[in-house]
Amino acid sequence: MVSTPPRWLSLVIVAMAALAAACSAPEGTAATVATPRPPRPALPPRPYALAGPLVPATTTMVSAWDVPADPIYDESLDGAPDGEMVRLGFRIFTNTQAEAPHISSGKVSCSNCHLNAGQRERALPLVGVSAAYPEMNRRAERLFTIEDRIIECFMRSENGTEVTQSFPTPESREVTAVKAYLDWLSRGHEKGTNPPWRGKNAIPQDKLIPIAKLDPQRGEVLFLDKCVNCHGSDGQGVAIGDKKAGPLWGPQSWNDGAGAARVYTLAGIIRYAMPYLDPGSLTDEEAQHLAAFITSQSRPSYPFKDRDYVKAGPPADAVYYPSRK
Ligand code: HEC
Ligand code: HEC
Repeated sequence: MVSTPPRWLSLVIVAMAALAAACSAPEGTAATVATPRPPRPALPPRPYALAGPLVPATTTMVSAWDVPADPIYDESLDGAPDGEMVRLGFRIFTNTQAEAPHISSGKVSCSNCHLNAGQRERALPLVGVSAAYPEMNRRAERLFTIEDRIIECFMRSENGTEVTQSFPTPESREVTAVKAYLDWLSRGHEKGTNPPWRGKNAIPQDKLIPIAKLDPQRGEVLFLDKCVNCHGSDGQGVAIGDKKAGPLWGPQSWNDGAGAARVYTLAGIIRYAMPYLDPGSLTDEEAQHLAAFITSQSRPSYPFKDRDYVKAGPPADAVYYPSRK
C-alpha cells in the first residue's frame, strides 16, 4: 500500500516525540497506588484554547496527550478520601488491558474512543456525564446507573466477555475506580443536568442514509485513502510515536454488542474525531460508508445479544444482531 511514509507523517512523528518527551504520557508512568504523586512535568503552552473544560474537536494529533484535568498530577487529590481511586480509575481508562486484565481483552482502551481520557469535545466526552445518571438505557430497556454503564463498557467495548462470563458488579474495584474518575470529572455539575457538550457525536437525523443504501466497498476505498497511514490496511493500527490506534475489527477489537458496532454510532465517532490530522473533514455520508465498511468485518461475538432490545427489537443499524421482526 504505502511503502514510504509521507512527509507529513514523519513531521508528525517528530512533533510527537518532542511532545511525548515534554509531557510524559500517562500510559508510560507505571505508578502504583502506593507511589507518591510524580512532580508535574513542565508543559509547553497550549497552542490552542480549551473549549470550556475540553480539548477542542478541531485540534489535530498535537493535542493527543493533552489531559486538561489530569488526576495523576492534581495536588488536590493528595490525601483526599477517594484520591487514589480517582487516579486508579484514570489509569484503567487510559490503559485498560494492562490495568483491568480480567474484565477486558483485546487492544482498545476506553480512551481510544473517548479521546484525551474523556476530555475532548465531540469525541464522546465524559466530563459532567455522571451528573446525568441514572438514565433510561434503550438497549437494556431499564434505568441505568453510571456503574451499570461502566460495566457494560467493560463487557462490550472492552470485550470483557472474552475472558469472563461473570459481569463485574458496582462494588468491583475497577468499576468503583472508573466511577471515581468520572465523578471527579463531574464535580461541580448539578445532579440531573446534562452538560451542553453531551450527545454531540450523532450524525443529524436528516442526514442518515438507510443501511441498505450504504456501500461498504465505497467505505473501503475511503479507508484506504484516508485511514491506513495510522490504522493499517488490515485495520489493526500502526504505532505513531507512542500512540497506537486500536484494532477496528478482528479478535482484538470491541465486540459486536458494543455501541461502536452500530453503523450510525460508529459513523458519529468517525465524523467528528477522524482522520486525526483533519477531524471534521469527512462528510456525513462518507462517515457512514466508512462505518458500513468497518462493521462489515468480523469482530468478537457478545454472547448475550438475545437479552438486548427485548421489547423494541434491535434498531436497523445494529447490524450484528439477528433481526427479530
Ligand atoms: C494520523 C493518524 C490517524 C488517521 C489518519 C486516522 N486515525 Fe483513527 N485513530 C488514530 C489514533 C492514534 C487513535 C487512537 C486515539 C487515541 O488514543 O488518542 C484512533 C482512533 C480511532 C477510532 C477509535 C477506536 C480505535 O480503534 O482506536 C476509530 C473508530 C478510528 N480511529 C477510525 C478512523 C477512520 C475511519 C479513519 C479514516 C477516515 C481514521 N481513523 C484515520 C489515528 C488516526
Ligand atoms: C470502541 C469505542 C469505545 C470504547 C473502547 C469505550 N467506549 Fe464508552 N462509549 C462508546 C460509545 C459509542 C458510546 C455512546 C453510547 C452508545 O451508543 O453505546 C459510549 C458511551 C459511554 C458512556 C456513557 C456516556 C453518556 O453520555 O451517557 C460512558 C460512561 C462510557 N462510554 C464509559 C466507557 C468506559 C469506562 C470505557 C472503558 C471501560 C469505554 N467507555 C470504552 C464507545 C466506546
